[in-house]
Amino acid sequence: MIDVDKLRADTPGTDNVIHLNSAGSSLMPLPVIDAIRSYLDHEIGYGGYETQRSFKNELDLVYSTLGELINAESHEMAISDSATRAWDMAFYSLPLEAGDRILTTTTEYVSNWAAYLQLRDSKGITVDVVPNTGSGELDVGALESMIDDTVKLITLNHVPTNSGVVNPARAVGRVAREHGVPYLLDACQSVGQLPIDVAEIGCDMLTTTSRKYLRGPRGVGFLYIRSDFLEHLSPVFVELLTATVVLPDRYELRHDARRFETWEKNYANVLGLSAAAEYAMDLGVADIWERIQSLGSMSRMLLGEIDGVTVRDLGAVKCGIVTFEVEGRHALEVRELLSERSINVSISTPLSAPVDMHERGIDGLVRASVHAFNTEEEIDEFAAAIGVIS
Ligand SMILES: Cc1ncc(COP(=O)(O)O)c(C=O)c1O
Repeated sequence: MIDVDKLRADTPGTDNVIHLNSAGSSLMPLPVIDAIRSYLDHEIGYGGYETQRSFKNELDLVYSTLGELINAESHEMAISDSATRAWDMAFYSLPLEAGDRILTTTTEYVSNWAAYLQLRDSKGITVDVVPNTGSGELDVGALESMIDDTVKLITLNHVPTNSGVVNPARAVGRVAREHGVPYLLDACQSVGQLPIDVAEIGCDMLTTTSRKYLRGPRGVGFLYIRSDFLEHLSPVFVELLTATVVLPDRYELRHDARRFETWEKNYANVLGLSAAAEYAMDLGVADIWERIQSLGSMSRMLLGEIDGVTVRDLGAVKCGIVTFEVEGRHALEVRELLSERSINVSISTPLSAPVDMHERGIDGLVRASVHAFNTEEEIDEFAAAIGVIS
């Protein structure tokens, strides 16, 4: 059971706002803030390179901490600037060629979608969207029926940016393994929100950010590459951390997932990310998930009772992302009106998940995303505010 009072005492931002925007960027808890501050203080006092050396042990431990969060080995983990860059590092390093097909979801995040279009235009690959079931998650049977020898990648978002659905990541993993197709999981919205076990899911690559449900700082994320899969990827970039230049004219790639990193990093943020992973594991991700689901369904129930409000979430399993429309009001206007009441939400535009928003004919959604630190009283206040606005 989660001690919500303790959680809030750990989260200074809860004194100022009702933060329903963990799908955008969450509120950091004190252990994360302290990790960042103490590193920065040291940097201010002693210099960047010297501080990195002083914190060597803590920085080395980050990889096993992140691995533990998703049940991976430390050598399967790499740090990135963002979820998108982690995803790009994996995606663009796959040996895709003209005629190869990628199977993906209707709800694919816009940056991933842009990358597919780019490889379609530059290399002649094809992108096929797997239809959803009636309840709105990826249809695993349809996915399986679309697989043939030309399918060279399955990409899935575990939780999309713009609806409450949780996609069947594990069932997709079974299909990917059975057919020997590489599987890239975009877990940007699910890491920190629900338990993730890469061995159970069976993905070859997984990407995420620090700032959302994990509650770490902005500007950092990570990539998991299953160790047996590493050699299937040919890194798009090499540099001094990822390859050793053997003088005079040869280089050797490093033999772990960090071949997808960059040498230069924001180390304060890296330690913040690691503290966030530890914090989530100390609380228990399964307990976090249970509370998020309960607050999510409470939000949907209260919003559903308000005239003029339509909840647009999909999925047999729903998460903490609650999306809705208010009749006669643009999503941006709703966000501003809530902001005047110190309630933070974000919006999903038609571009956030272009295929899905286009198919569903939606031109803007309000996105209220709950986390375990939110209270039932906050959800009541939020719903009351929507009742006034609508
Ligand atoms: C499902 C999904 N994938 C990827 C991303 C990209 O994350 P980042 O902004 O850290 O690159 C987002 C961001 O909102 C997202 O919701």
